[in-house]
Amino acid sequence: MSEQIDKAIRWATELFETCSESARLDAELLLAHCLQKPRSFLYSWPEMKLSDSCWQRFQALVQQRRRPTPVAYLLGKREFYSMEYASTPAALVPRPETELLVELALRQIPRDQALRICDLGTGTGIIAITLKKQRPLLHVLATDIDPACLALARDNARLHAVQVQFIESDWYQNLPAEPRFDMIVSNPPYVAGGHPFLSQGDLPAEPTIALTPGNSGLEALEIIIQQAPDYLEPGGLLIVEHGYDQEAPVANLMRTAGFDKVRCESDHNNLPRASLGCLLHN
Ligand SMILES: C[S@@+](CC[C@H](N)C(=O)[O-])C[C@H]1O[C@@H](n2cnc3c(N)ncnc32)[C@H](O)[C@@H]1O
Repeated sequence: MSEQIDKAIRWATELFETCSESARLDAELLLAHCLQKPRSFLYSWPEMKLSDSCWQRFQALVQQRRRPTPVAYLLGKREFYSMEYASTPAALVPRPETELLVELALRQIPRDQALRICDLGTGTGIIAITLKKQRPLLHVLATDIDPACLALARDNARLHAVQVQFIESDWYQNLPAEPRFDMIVSNPPYVAGGHPFLSQGDLPAEPTIALTPGNSGLEALEIIIQQAPDYLEPGGLLIVEHGYDQEAPVANLMRTAGFDKVRCESDHNNLPRASLGCLLHN
């Protein structure tokens, strides 16, 4: 790494210490973005110099990051399940925790079956698009209440050259009653309204509607779980992401709604993060 690059990264890292848990990484990503190079380039070109315009652009991004603006919004992209997705302030920044939900869904989807899957609250489209990319035979329908999210998700589907049907809908409201789905997946907003977490880190920069459904944090999960039996085939599967402290109420909601074999899995931080259940046959 050249002395100049090293100095720029150290300067930004120090400024980010108060607003980011990944200060050095953020600094490197933003500088590489200004240079229009991959991050590894910073380490592999010891003679690299920063032009004045690049330095100015970097300084501007560093100030934006400190507001704070998520790095994904500044770069306009974020990696999820080893694929790159466009990311804008219209939608929640994809989280690594959500890879668990995708992994659980993929384990249940045979490669040779054209199952029907619904992703409720698709945001950037990461869940729907990743599932379709990994299992091309699937019929995938994805919804969001926010048209700006749907526009972004459509762009991401085009980026990855997959066909997903997108519908603007308040959860199930505009979904056809038939044909039913073999699987419903959702990462809904689940933070309790007014929780101090909502004012921490990058969260104030993300859409509130993507983070919290209101008072208890369970309102969206309640609707999704309670109405799922009306849209699932008997024996169909429901998989939802939820808060680390929502395992018990989610299991309770699922059992009450008629789901069997209900279980919860933990994310990479070993926190309970996604629950699934199988709809009982009548
Ligand atoms: C936690 S974000 C998840 C986004 C994306 N699926 C992901 O995993 O990154 C929740 C999404 O639900 C959407 N949403 C919130 N309320 C909704 C509602 N009533 N009906 C449909 N979608 C809703 C938000 O716009 C947001 O995109």
